[in-house]
Amino acid sequence: MAIRNQLIKFEDSVRKILKDAITEKEIVERLKPHFQTLLQTKDLLPAEYKKPSSDKYSQFLLYKPEDEVFSIVGFVWGPGQTAPIHDHLVWGLVGIYEGAIEETRYRKVPGATGEQGYTLEIIDVVHVNRNDISFVYPPNADIHSVRNPSEQPAITIHVYGTDIGKQQRHIYHQDTHATSDVITVHKNSSPIYS
Ligand SMILES: [Fe+2]
Repeated sequence: MAIRNQLIKFEDSVRKILKDAITEKEIVERLKPHFQTLLQTKDLLPAEYKKPSSDKYSQFLLYKPEDEVFSIVGFVWGPGQTAPIHDHLVWGLVGIYEGAIEETRYRKVPGATGEQGYTLEIIDVVHVNRNDISFVYPPNADIHSVRNPSEQPAITIHVYGTDIGKQQRHIYHQDTHATSDVITVHKNSSPIYS
């Protein structure tokens, strides 16, 4: 099936789930099998986008509907490249398309030494490989950092409940306990598939 058709089918599933699901956790759980199917699509991230950038990870918008109720984004991670500790403020699924990723998950511990009245505690460090799916949802599973621990590039495909390239969110600085606002824009201005 052509990639465009796969995306339309996936959009159909997202919309059905959004109509019924009550919590963001529920959306993530119900969407997972549909996302797993989408991840089997060959060349979802076309070859010309797959070369890692030397400075940092690359982020490409693959698809979003006009009303922006979700977006599908491809990330290319060079060996050792990282994303700092950040939140999303929306549900999301992270599928490993090529290579492997190490994800460190955090939670806020209230009343500690941070200037915001909390500090971050590591909940888990997980290694995810091809076809594995990780997830995020606020408020309890929303903060993580990501790293490509291998010598090979990695590609991850993400789906979020908004256009994540426009979403204002936060980076957490462990050393100073401060946060900064961030919008991580896509490298491409219009989606690869439209
Ligand atoms: Fe993330």
